[in-house]
Amino acid sequence: MPRVGHRAGHRVGVTRTVSYRLVTDKSPERKRGVSVTHGSTASPERRFPDIDFTKAHTARVWNYWLGGKDNYPVDREVGEQVRAVLPEIVDAARAQRGFLIRVVRHLVADAGIRQFLDIGTGLPTANNTHEVAQANAPECRIVYVDNDPLIMAHARALLTSTADGATDYVYADLHDSDTVLREAARTLDFTQPIALMLLGVMEHILDTEEAYAIVTHLLEALPSGSYLALCDPTTEIRPETMLEAVHRWNESATPMIKARSRQELVRFFAGLELLEPGVVSSSLWRPDPQDLGTPVEVFNFGGVGRKP
Ligand SMILES: C[S@@+](CC[C@H](N)C(=O)[O-])C[C@H]1O[C@@H](n2cnc3c(N)ncnc32)[C@H](O)[C@@H]1O
Repeated sequence: MPRVGHRAGHRVGVTRTVSYRLVTDKSPERKRGVSVTHGSTASPERRFPDIDFTKAHTARVWNYWLGGKDNYPVDREVGEQVRAVLPEIVDAARAQRGFLIRVVRHLVADAGIRQFLDIGTGLPTANNTHEVAQANAPECRIVYVDNDPLIMAHARALLTSTADGATDYVYADLHDSDTVLREAARTLDFTQPIALMLLGVMEHILDTEEAYAIVTHLLEALPSGSYLALCDPTTEIRPETMLEAVHRWNESATPMIKARSRQELVRFFAGLELLEPGVVSSSLWRPDPQDLGTPVEVFNFGGVGRKP
């Protein structure tokens, strides 16, 4: 099992231990099309890494900016510190959720996609990937992956599949993409197109070459007709302010983040057919026609590419 969190060096101060029982293939949940799996061959009864409530964590701060309640004083404090530098952070978090909704809807309704691999899921909030996908096609199958043990505790909220479809939650680290693929194959059919969703997660892979290598490796496992949807912070607009916000974050929260130029984000789509309008502010990626006026530009840019 990847030693997530320990690698990030955030296991400091008081911690609380949470343990989980894993659902096996024969469970009633699995029969209903939902399950929780762990990225290892370990016994079904196991102890997960400690959750550190003393340091702000990306999933919980993101939840705070999205207006959720699954966060702690330390998360709100850092959330406000970053917001003081970058007041539009809340707009950006919400714009990324809007991007997710429009992308998933497009992929299901227009591109015929029925399978999603959503890595860096975050805490459940409104319009999770499976809800948007299954609202358009109930037979959609979704695998969520995250390396935050707290999200494991909330995974039940992600596992509300329609009877015709399936959802699975895998506790695994993106650095260990072989495990991600192996566990995802329990639910997804890798001979059929899959949409790989990487929203707000590649920013946590600080080494850009490593980040490209991970995405390439994941895409290699997907058949022709699959898609990549990616959204991350960029230094493209107000770079100095962005770098200051990144600096504040990296000083006090975990895991660390990296903001990239638009060109660096575009390179994630190398070898793919990039859909119009390309890699743009997530708010400006095919905004809904019923939205009044032009949405404001935010500093997290997203795009969607099709594997030929
Ligand atoms: C900013 S949140 C984005 C949540 C969601 N994708 C969204 O767009 O609302 C980033 C998520 O990525 C997860 N994450 C960060 N590094 C990861 C890694 N190496 N492997 C798996 N998940 C990771 C965090 O735990 C967190 O839940």
